[in-house]
Amino acid sequence: MPTLRHLISIDDLSLVEMESIFEKAREFEEDLGGWADICRGRIAATLFYEPSTRTRLSFESAMLRLGGGVISAADMRTSSASKGESLADTVRVVAGYSDVLILRHQSEGAARLAAEYSSVPVINAGDGSHEHPTQTLCDLYSLWCERGHIEGLDVVFAGDLRYSRTVHSFAYALARFRANIVCIPQAGFDLPAYVVRRLREEFGVEPVKADASRLGHLAAASDVVYLTPQKPHQLSLFTDPKGMSVGHVDAVYMTRPQTERFEEGTVLDETNYLRLNQTQLAADSLRDAVVMHPLPRRDEISSDMDADPRSIYFKQAARGVPIRMAILSSLLETEVVLQGPAVVAGPTWPSQSAGMACINPGCICNTEERHVRRSFRLATRLPLRVSCPYCSQEITFGLVGCSSRHQFLARDAREVRKIRPEDMVFFRDEAQGVEAGYSPGAGASQVPPV
Ligand code: NCD
Repeated sequence: MPTLRHLISIDDLSLVEMESIFEKAREFEEDLGGWADICRGRIAATLFYEPSTRTRLSFESAMLRLGGGVISAADMRTSSASKGESLADTVRVVAGYSDVLILRHQSEGAARLAAEYSSVPVINAGDGSHEHPTQTLCDLYSLWCERGHIEGLDVVFAGDLRYSRTVHSFAYALARFRANIVCIPQAGFDLPAYVVRRLREEFGVEPVKADASRLGHLAAASDVVYLTPQKPHQLSLFTDPKGMSVGHVDAVYMTRPQTERFEEGTVLDETNYLRLNQTQLAADSLRDAVVMHPLPRRDEISSDMDADPRSIYFKQAARGVPIRMAILSSLLETEVVLQGPAVVAGPTWPSQSAGMACINPGCICNTEERHVRRSFRLATRLPLRVSCPYCSQEITFGLVGCSSRHQFLARDAREVRKIRPEDMVFFRDEAQGVEAGYSPGAGASQVPPV
């Protein structure tokens, strides 16, 4: 029995697989005129707990264009979720009605939880502010079509980089393609620390303060950071390699403020929000940069840009159909493009430890606690840091124990490196460790959790 493939994170696909998906999408779009009768008799279920126009309708259009059928819960407020049904139960039921499940949910990690309970492939159509891998495939496909390649491109991210899931997935993928990212965030809406940490630790990206004088008005109101592969192979792009001055931009990716996800107390002066217009995009370095947006836009791209040949956001949205045809036909295995598990994210280790907590209140492991399988991923070995496999954010703990030796240690004790992940037990503090029958090992003095 082949293992079920899900698409939860953009990391679930290897670069070769992504490129096969682009090839397939282009074949659907250009050679087959947008139709291929290869999913006849198969049903896609769309479960949307949050509003959507493009993602849901382009998935449904894609499935119909593949000859398949669609069942849709477009507004889960009218479903049994409003009677208190858990996501895990809904998924187990709907998987019995369909061959693939497409889920949008407000909690980070929801799609991963769904995949644990589903008997059919699950596709993440956006989980809180965490990830949106199919939008990323659409964005990458657009760059691939417009530029002919992705490697080494210079892409500007602008607007709300903190809560935009499209930006997070896109950043991980661009880093793996060794493209460079220029961050021009709205003040207070920078990339979250956990995203930058993943980019640095897992994808070898170096954040550097950039001299953005050549971006003209576009960068005037913000501190610009350049995220670049540790050995940039495109030094010719920088006018001054030491200062990382941005010279030429291939794409500007704009995002709207994700107000529906703002934490309490978040203040945004909307009148001050970056607004792309002819003046903002007048600098010579931007003369042939494509202007992208996952949409919906409010007024962060002025309509005077719509007729500008650099603006591709409506074309980008239209590409959502062929790319989702390629995704669906791959996961339904009617077209062989996915060959094996991707290797990017490290393994997930089960843990029963009561002394660990995911710091993210919006994570599914804190909102649907009873169905979550407690687990962790290793982020760094010394000091020991672990992350939540659902939302990718940090898991806090006080001390780490070794279940075979019944000893506990501080996270920065050298001996920690010798504990096998399968033997790790996490304690809030010494008292909890002692209560569980563990004793202090050499270097057990506690460091406060980060
Ligand atoms: C995005 C989303 O839902 O994250 N939209 C989309 O899927 N095309 C971006 C957004 O809502 O701003």
